[in-house]
Amino acid sequence: MTDRASPETTPAHSGAKSLQRLTQFARDMGHITNLSVIAERIFSELSEVTRYQQGSLYLIERERERFRRLIAQGAAHTASTPPTVPLDHPLIHQLAQHQQILDRSTGAHGSHSKATHELPSTILESLCTNLAIPLVNRGRMVAFVLLHSEPLPDRSDPESLELLTATAQSAANALDSILVYEDLHQSQTLMRRTDRLRSLEIIAGGFAHEIRNPLTSIKTFIQLAPERKDDTEFIHDFSKIVLDDVHRIERLIQEILDYARYMEPKLTDEDLNDLVSSCLYFIDVKADSRGIKIEKELASELPRVMLDRQQIKQVLLNLLLNAMDAIGERGGALRVRTTKLMKPEGNAWVQIEIEDTGQGISAANLEHIFDPFFTTKHTSGENEGTGLGLTIAHQIIREHQGEIQVQSTEGIGTTFRINLPALA
Ligand SMILES: Nc1ncnc2c1ncn2[C@@H]1O[C@H](COP(=O)(O)OP(=O)(O)O)[C@@H](O)[C@H]1O
Ligand SMILES: [Mg+2]
Repeated sequence: MTDRASPETTPAHSGAKSLQRLTQFARDMGHITNLSVIAERIFSELSEVTRYQQGSLYLIERERERFRRLIAQGAAHTASTPPTVPLDHPLIHQLAQHQQILDRSTGAHGSHSKATHELPSTILESLCTNLAIPLVNRGRMVAFVLLHSEPLPDRSDPESLELLTATAQSAANALDSILVYEDLHQSQTLMRRTDRLRSLEIIAGGFAHEIRNPLTSIKTFIQLAPERKDDTEFIHDFSKIVLDDVHRIERLIQEILDYARYMEPKLTDEDLNDLVSSCLYFIDVKADSRGIKIEKELASELPRVMLDRQQIKQVLLNLLLNAMDAIGERGGALRVRTTKLMKPEGNAWVQIEIEDTGQGISAANLEHIFDPFFTTKHTSGENEGTGLGLTIAHQIIREHQGEIQVQSTEGIGTTFRINLPALA
C-alpha cells in the first residue's frame, strides 16, 4: 500500500514527497486491471492530494453518449450530482474543450489561464463541487472527478496543482487502456457469438437433412404395415429398422440440444491434469473390457488454465471415445499426455495429446472430420455415429481461444492435440 503521510503534519504535496507519491501512484496504475478497483484508487488519490473529502468519479460510456458515476462520496455532494451526465451537458463542454482543471475557489482554469469564467463557477456550484478534474488521454476525456470540501482546506502550496495535473494524467492513461481493452473484449465476444450462430445454422440445416431419411423409413413402415400385418418376417425386420431410426433421431436431438445449450463458456481456474484424470476414470472400465491399454503421462507443475469444466470434459470424452472406436475390438493403446508449451511470443500454453493405435484416418477423410454430420460410423444401432462430436469439440476449443489439431496415418493411428492458453 501507499505510504500515506498524515495531512496534519506533512503536506501530501511537498517536494520529494510529491514525486514519491506520484511514482507510487503510477506504479499502482500499471498493476491494476480491474475497472472498479482502479476507479477507487484514482478517486482516493485525488481526494488525498487535494484533501477534499467529498466527491465523485464519472466514467465515459461511449456507446450511450454519456458519463456514468462510478464513485460517490459524501452525502451533500452525492445528493447534488446526477448518476449520469450526458455529453452535451455544459460541464462536459467546459472540461472537454479546455482540458484543464476547474477550480471554483480561485475561479481559474488550471495554472495557465487566469481568465475567470462566470459559467464554470455556476455549474460547479450547482453540482456542490469546488474542483472538477478532467481525465484526458490522447486528447479524449475518458473520465472526470468532482471534488468538494467544506470548509476549504489550505491549498496554497504552488506544487499542488502540478501534482494534481500529473496524477490526473497518469490516471487518465491507465483508465483509457482498460477501456480500450474492454472494448476489444466486447467485440471479440460478439464475433464469437456470431460465429456460433452461423455454425448452428449449418447444423440445423444438416439436422433437417439427416432426419429426413429415418423419417421416410418410419413413414413407409406405417403406410405398409396395415396390408402386410400378417407377414411376420416383414413386421419383424422392419420394426427393427424403424426402432434404429427412432434411436438415431433421439441421439441427434440430444446432441443438438447439448450444442445449443452452450452459450458463453463459464470459465473457472482449473488444473487440467485433474480434468484429464477424471475423464480417464470414466472410460477405464470400457477400455479394459476391450483390451485397450491406457497410458497417462501428466506433466508435473502444469500451469493452470481458465476453462469451462463441463465443456472441456465433453471435448476430452469425445476424443477418448473416438480413439476407442478407432481401436475397435483389436486391442491397442491409448496415450494421454499433458505438457506445458511456450509460444514464441513468450506466452505459456498447455497441451493435451490423445494418441491412439487405431485404424487411422485417410487423407480424404481428414479434411472433413470437423464437418457437422461427417461420420464413418454407419453401423446401425448404439454405435452409429452422429458426426457432431468433433464439430462440437472444435467449437468449444475455439471459444476457449485454443487450438485443436490432428495428425493421422492410416493403419498406424491418430493423435489429437489441444492447446489452451495458460494462466502463467
Ligand atoms: N481417433 C480417431 N481415429 C480414427 N478416426 C477418427 C478418430 N476420431 C475421429 N475420427 C473420424 O472422424 C469422424 C467424425 O468424428 P465425430 O465428429 O466424433 O463423429 P462420430 O464419432 O459420431 O462419427 C469419425 O466418424 C471418424 O471417421
Ligand atoms: Mg465421436
